[in-house]
Amino acid sequence: MEFQWYPGHMTKARRAMQEDLKLIDVIIELVDARIPYSSKNPDIDALANGKSRILLLNKSDLADDAVTQEWVREYEEKGYFTALVNSKSGKGVREVHQVIQKACKEKIERDRKRGILNRPIRAMIVGIPNVGKSTFINSFAGKACARTGNKPGVTKGKQWIRLNKNVELLDTPGILWPKFDDQAVGLRLAYIGSIKDELYNIYELSILLLKFLQESYPDKVAAFYQTEQAKDEIRQLEQIAGRRGCLKAGGELDLDKAARYLIDDFRNGKIGKISLERPE
Ligand code: G4P
Repeated sequence: MEFQWYPGHMTKARRAMQEDLKLIDVIIELVDARIPYSSKNPDIDALANGKSRILLLNKSDLADDAVTQEWVREYEEKGYFTALVNSKSGKGVREVHQVIQKACKEKIERDRKRGILNRPIRAMIVGIPNVGKSTFINSFAGKACARTGNKPGVTKGKQWIRLNKNVELLDTPGILWPKFDDQAVGLRLAYIGSIKDELYNIYELSILLLKFLQESYPDKVAAFYQTEQAKDEIRQLEQIAGRRGCLKAGGELDLDKAARYLIDDFRNGKIGKISLERPE
């Protein structure tokens, strides 16, 4: 399956991001814990230019815990501070405060030596579409926090959310683009619903997902749909169609409808906690 999804406004977005990054001390990048490589922006490392880096593996409720731990090790070895979060339930969100303090320890120390006390750390949330940036900001900032409004000078035109006396968060997240040129990445983004449904064929997508699931999580599909374990993906989809009563007018199995069920159940975590990729 081929994906065509290159947005025209990427250059503009990149420039805007560069401007925003000048204002901040720490970049908090969200990725989807099911695809911590494929949902990570390829250019942010170059743009970040020495800033402190935090990587949040969001939607950790949907990913395989053991694989997620492998990713945590992988990214920590690369110099990121990491945390697992479920922005929807709020699990792990408060702990991000401690991670920010750890990530900015050197900067706080430097400020202190220069006699600058209590200057809040400025943070910004970035990530590709649909990783949960808005949900995270709402959960992290909560209702109690005050929006600081525009300040003259460096922050002109920007809204900051004061989280506490130590941290200010840019209130609009930076929207990054995924890795456009890698078809395997495109496929995983399609599985999790980060590519518009019109851009791929749902039946083909479901067959590919079934193939992956049979190789990596062989029992889960059969257990969830209460079907036999089939080696053949088409056979398995037929069984799902039978179980779910997906029939066309003439009584023939409606495999597109079954495919829709499978994809939606996967995306909602109903089939189980599943990771789509592991560190190399
Ligand atoms: P974005 O700003 O990065 O584009 O993402 P946004 O916050 O809009 O979140 C995208 C979808 O992901 C939302 O679902 C949101 O509820 C869901 N989400 C965010 N964080 C988590 C998480 O940690 N775990 C789970 N399971 N889901 C998460 P939606 O289908 O668009 O809306 P709804 O189902 O919440 O109504």
